[in-house]
Amino acid sequence: MKVAVVGTGYVGLVSGACLADLGHEVICIDTDAEKIAKLEAGIMPIFEQGLEEVVKRNAKAGRIRFTTDFSLGVPGAEVVSVAVGTPSADDGSVDMKYVDAAAAEIGKNLSAYAVIANKSTVPVGTAERVTNIIRQHTEQEFDVVSNPEFLREGTAVFDFSKPTRIIIGTDSERAREVMRKLYAHISCQKIETDAVSAELTKYACNTFLATKISFINEVAHLSEAVGADVEAVAAGMGSDPRIGKEFLKAGPGWGGGCFPKDVRAFLKLGEAHGHAMPLTNAAMAMNKLARSRIVDRLERELGSLTGKKIGVLGVAFKGNTDDTRESPALDIINECLRRGAVVAVYDPQARFGDGAVAQVDSLFEAARDAEALVIATEWEEFRTLDLDKMKQTMAGDLIMDARNLLDADAAERSGFTYLRVGRKEKRKGI
Ligand SMILES: NC(=O)c1ccc[n+]([C@@H]2O[C@H](COP(=O)([O-])OP(=O)(O)OC[C@H]3O[C@@H](n4cnc5c(N)ncnc54)[C@H](O)[C@@H]3O)[C@@H](O)[C@H]2O)c1
Repeated sequence: MKVAVVGTGYVGLVSGACLADLGHEVICIDTDAEKIAKLEAGIMPIFEQGLEEVVKRNAKAGRIRFTTDFSLGVPGAEVVSVAVGTPSADDGSVDMKYVDAAAAEIGKNLSAYAVIANKSTVPVGTAERVTNIIRQHTEQEFDVVSNPEFLREGTAVFDFSKPTRIIIGTDSERAREVMRKLYAHISCQKIETDAVSAELTKYACNTFLATKISFINEVAHLSEAVGADVEAVAAGMGSDPRIGKEFLKAGPGWGGGCFPKDVRAFLKLGEAHGHAMPLTNAAMAMNKLARSRIVDRLERELGSLTGKKIGVLGVAFKGNTDDTRESPALDIINECLRRGAVVAVYDPQARFGDGAVAQVDSLFEAARDAEALVIATEWEEFRTLDLDKMKQTMAGDLIMDARNLLDADAAERSGFTYLRVGRKEKRKGI
């Protein structure tokens, strides 16, 4: 099938590459000329495991192309998949400017019946909104389908190719047939529903998962108070299939390009319909607390943070991605700075442009002469760090492991006071 993918970010590029891998003829369209130039030159604009290989294989086979020009991609496409950003507006609602602009361009360039599949996470009512915008620009027949995406950064290629389910939201049987053909070679549960239910499903999923993390963080904080081990509690909880093992990892809270903005949008939806949404509000409050608590604990150990050097390992919002959007690490760094600390950061992939913070090229450089080390992202290389060498590098002996990555006994043997989330502390000399 001929497929156009509009928006070539984490979702669009992975979708485009994987759809090409299924044998479709894909053209990826993005307004960011620099990104398209990179892709044409075979350079990946994002870090995502396995992505480069899939893109290159399909580019070589002529199944994937990149352009900034809608008129090269939309005419003749049976499916136009929309994967543009849907960031939060200042008031927490969804800023729809990219979706609206994409819809207008699609409308101007339709040459025959096509299915417009919304992969972006969009508010309830967007299928109708996009339909209205496209209709202003074309006489052609088309259908707009809600087709929310559930891939996770870090495992995006795998998730797209082997999804847990595909949701197709439309009342049009003609559009459903096209979407069935698009995903015919992906075997998983296919849930066909109306557009509004599909749109709400995506927000309900992300808000539920965020709430689950907030819940385990609440359990973690209580574990510290009563002397329980949150990992044992989580194992006991997760073995109940009604609860499930996933998303029961205590830490500095949820972040990234999706959960925070999607939870805010879910709240806004409730507000718009006169619902108080107390559970979602509590999940958000808990998420703020999980972050600030990391810095509170540092301050409790070090006294004032003023003038103290803190080494932060990790700035990405989770391991195996270079995405720093709404990363807990950023809040931790900013709060340390606000309280007067000097911060140096190391991340294997992620870059961030804050001039107040030295971003260095090795974890030992970040830790050099630091009073404390904060592990803020679960990168594998942090798990195996040489603790004796780290101890010699640092001025102090405090590790605040916000991801519960290290072996506590090993940290203690190397002479550290080792704090983690919801688990027993190891104190030097005690
Ligand atoms: N990142 C994830 O893990 C993930 C997972 C599931 C769903 N989503 C949702 O998918 C959507 C995209 O997320 P992302 O992380 O890929 O975003 P992103 O910011 O990485 O990519 C969006 C891309 O869209 C391009 N764009 C903006 N306006 C455009 C236009 N009018 N025409 C063509 N291109 C345009 C941007 O230049 C950018 O390259 C969001 O709604 C997000 O909530 C993201």
